[in-house]
Amino acid sequence: MLRTALLAAARSPLARQVVERTPLARPVVRRFVAGSSLREAVDVTASLIADGRKVTLDHLGEDTTDAAQAAATVDAYERLLAELGSSGLAHGAEVSVKLSAVGQSLPKDGEKIALDNARLICEAAAAVGTTVTLDMEDHTTTDSTLGILGDLRVDFPSTGAVLQAYLRRTEQDCRDLSGAGSRVRLCKGAYKEPESVAYQDKSEVDRSYVRCLRILMNGAGYPMVASHDPRLVAIAADVASAAGRTVDTYEHQMLYGVRPDAQREIAAAGKTLRVYVPYGDQWYGYFMRRLAERPANVAFFLRSLATK
Ligand code: FDA
Repeated sequence: MLRTALLAAARSPLARQVVERTPLARPVVRRFVAGSSLREAVDVTASLIADGRKVTLDHLGEDTTDAAQAAATVDAYERLLAELGSSGLAHGAEVSVKLSAVGQSLPKDGEKIALDNARLICEAAAAVGTTVTLDMEDHTTTDSTLGILGDLRVDFPSTGAVLQAYLRRTEQDCRDLSGAGSRVRLCKGAYKEPESVAYQDKSEVDRSYVRCLRILMNGAGYPMVASHDPRLVAIAADVASAAGRTVDTYEHQMLYGVRPDAQREIAAAGKTLRVYVPYGDQWYGYFMRRLAERPANVAFFLRSLATK
């Protein structure tokens, strides 16, 4: 119930105003968000790479209803990618993009605007020798996002997708995206979805995750195992070795601020561990989804408000 309430609040403009105006929220937010500026994001990236981890950077923002805001997001990614290139970090860092931040939800021509904008970001990434992964948002956007992915992959074949194991459709999407050169980040899924399209029970989601892992690991693409769940991390290693994969043919991914010790352990074991690093001022929706994932985070958040 708490998860449902938090995910509803993640989409509520009123709740957003209240939480964002709470300056004391910020230290707690900083556990999950690298900072508001490009400089802070690049500094965090440099220290993670120096520590043996890789990075995917997310310029925070979503559900943009303003074309100028979408263009500003493209500009932010272009500046970020140029900075990654000039500071020599592009070998270890790529970017993650939410299509709703670059125009997908605009009422008129949203899909075309998002495709054109995403193409600009892919060009900027290619110019410095790195890649883009398209985040996956709620299920009403899945077909559109996969359609745009297909268009982008014609010119930028290394563009990655995210698939969510909680969706009933995802096993088939995994089959469709398991070909050579296909980079697929498999996560459980972070949005509130109806029973008609998504498994509701945690154990059902976990079982779906394992079925999807088997499909991806036995395919010819590059699976990206995005989970902090120790059980699924261990199963991924078993499924990969049963599929005859070496550790350089897939990677693990975790969120900034979540299980950092496990992140270091995976990297120290000689595997690729990529950290998803969000930055920027539009942290509200992202932060609320992180609270929803773990009730203890809510207590942490409330305690910080009470004691400061
Ligand atoms: P689960 O939620 O069961 O957590 C397992 C354990 O991890 C917990 O017991 C706890 O120890 C720790 N943990 C997990 N979340 C935590 C948190 N917020 N705070 C503290 N500890 C936590 N989703 C989506 O819908 N679209 C997307 O594009 C992406 N992209 C994405 C990229 C990457 C790199 C990751 C790691 C995740 C995503 N997600 C996502 C989010 C994903 O769908 C999911 O909500 C979270 O990863 C939590 O699920 P776990 O698999 O970690 O398992």
